[in-house]
Amino acid sequence: MLSSSITFYLSLLLCCSVFFLTVVGEVNRPTVGVIRWDAWNMINGQYDYISNRSRNWFIPQQYHYRLPFFAQILSENNITLNEDTQEVMDQEILYAKLAGFDYWAFDTYCAYSSNCTSNSSFCNEYIHDIAPDYCVYNPAYGLNRYLSSQYVSFINFTLLLLGSTICDSDLQDYYIDLMARPQYQTVLDGRPLVYLFQFSDKQAQFCGGNWTGSKQVVDGFRQRCTQRGIFCYIDHNDETTSRLFLIMLGLKDPYMVYMSQNILEAKKNGQALGFNAISSYGVNGGGTNQGAPFSDKVQQNEQWWNAVVGSGAKVVIPLSTGWDTRPQTRNGTAPYYLQPSDEELQSFMRSAIKITCENRNVTEANTVLVYAWNECAENGAALIPSLGNGTYFVNALSKTLPMFC
Ligand SMILES: *[C@@H]1O[C@H](CO)[C@@H](O)[C@H](O)[C@H]1NC(C)=O
Ligand SMILES: *[C@@H]1O[C@H](CO)[C@@H](O)[C@H](O)[C@H]1NC(C)=O
Ligand SMILES: *[C@@H]1O[C@H](CO)[C@@H](O)[C@H](O)[C@H]1NC(C)=O
Ligand SMILES: *[C@@H]1O[C@H](CO)[C@@H](O)[C@H](O)[C@H]1NC(C)=O
Ligand SMILES: *[C@@H]1O[C@H](CO)[C@@H](O)[C@H](O)[C@H]1NC(C)=O
Ligand SMILES: *[C@@H]1O[C@H](CO)[C@@H](O)[C@H](O)[C@H]1NC(C)=O
Ligand SMILES: *[C@@H]1O[C@H](CO)[C@@H](O)[C@H](O)[C@H]1NC(C)=O
Ligand SMILES: *[C@@H]1O[C@H](CO)[C@@H](O)[C@H](O)[C@H]1NC(C)=O
Ligand SMILES: *[C@@H]1O[C@H](CO)[C@@H](O)[C@H](O)[C@H]1NC(C)=O
Repeated sequence: MLSSSITFYLSLLLCCSVFFLTVVGEVNRPTVGVIRWDAWNMINGQYDYISNRSRNWFIPQQYHYRLPFFAQILSENNITLNEDTQEVMDQEILYAKLAGFDYWAFDTYCAYSSNCTSNSSFCNEYIHDIAPDYCVYNPAYGLNRYLSSQYVSFINFTLLLLGSTICDSDLQDYYIDLMARPQYQTVLDGRPLVYLFQFSDKQAQFCGGNWTGSKQVVDGFRQRCTQRGIFCYIDHNDETTSRLFLIMLGLKDPYMVYMSQNILEAKKNGQALGFNAISSYGVNGGGTNQGAPFSDKVQQNEQWWNAVVGSGAKVVIPLSTGWDTRPQTRNGTAPYYLQPSDEELQSFMRSAIKITCENRNVTEANTVLVYAWNECAENGAALIPSLGNGTYFVNALSKTLPMFC
């Protein structure tokens, strides 16, 4: 009797400590996200302007090895690619899961009609002020295929908003519905994580007349998140009693991260909008025309990390796995970095986790954002498996992630 109750208490204790360890472990595990740039698709057998451009960049044979795994070389000067199939997306989820990523950050562009206009003035502002030729018809194909995948629960997602579209109230509704999904990545005990890029003076002016006005718009967005679907009703049970029901579907206050590689600007603008932290869409640029060693890329990132950690702002550490825009040039000449070896990539990832773990007062969201999954034309070491490098990079990461503090 005695011994059985001791066994009972011991097992209870064991259970609790296992539970406790799990909880503590989770708290001390930075999550790792990776940016998606989805512009590798066909619509009814046609490419839109941007996906056609992406495809044209990769026609020269010397770049074929960088093509994502779903591309096909039909003949000299003829390649084809279409990421917008369920089969391809299912496979990508399995690859990202293998690598050990927690979430994909989806670049969130507007859809335009065939004459490159939108019914949202904020989407038109994007084309007008930021990317004059960014005419895409179905920019959410990746997000939609992900959400409809049988493997959706294997990896979470966040929105990486672009330009002033966060100021459009119809688009806000769309974003908030996505943020309410169970797969939406949260930080700090349930706050939805939102990134914002390409929002500077022009966008602030267009959005709210100035930065102060834009902060009010952002505050309104936060309020719509937290007050989403809160309603109450009174149930008149009988003549003498009535019951008040409160239905709460509201989200927690979003954790909003302003992105700019210019730290001073990020700090100033992030603060002006009342954002929670700053980060960058990678630590990009640099390299040499002959190809700089990857150790230079690491050093460039680490310098940025040290500067941002000392900047006084809260931060999400970005990690760029490469920079090589040669496919985008006509003459094939542009400064670039060589690809990392598996060990270089692993040790780089460990450094990003380490600085995140060691500066928790500034890296409070406890997350790292990697550039990039399928920025195959800008980044010579995009992580998506490719025709020439296969699963080399995802395999390398799978040996490092997930990583605890
Ligand atoms: C795609 O690019 C090629 C080469 O520049 C061009 O001939 C073709 O018209 C473009 N197609 C579309 C749909 O834009
Ligand atoms: C590329 O190959 C496809 C399939 O054979 C064909 O339909 C298309 O016309 C070809 N495109 C070019 C530019 O040769
Ligand atoms: C562009 O197309 C939309 C409908 O798709 C139409 O309402 C608008 O007038 C067109 N704009 C121009 C400049 O042709
Ligand atoms: C804009 O167009 C989209 C689909 O093209 C539609 O869902 C949305 O309601 C429209 N918004 C406005 C303000 O008309
Ligand atoms: C996704 O996020 C939810 C809530 O933030 C979390 O419970 C879940 O474990 C996450 N899933 C993955 C695959 O990381
Ligand atoms: C900023 O814009 C708001 C209207 O959105 C206006 O009330 C305010 O005076 C402006 N502030 C400055 C400093 O211009
Ligand atoms: C983080 O902590 C360091 C060292 O304690 C301190 O110097 C720094 O001001 C803190 N930063 C923030 C943003 O709180
Ligand atoms: C190659 O083209 C780029 C512009 O795309 C230009 O900046 C560069 O000077 C050119 N380099 C050579 C060697 O022609
Ligand atoms: C990727 O493939 C290219 C082309 O085959 C090769 O030169 C390069 O060394 C490969 N990269 C890695 C990291 O193995």
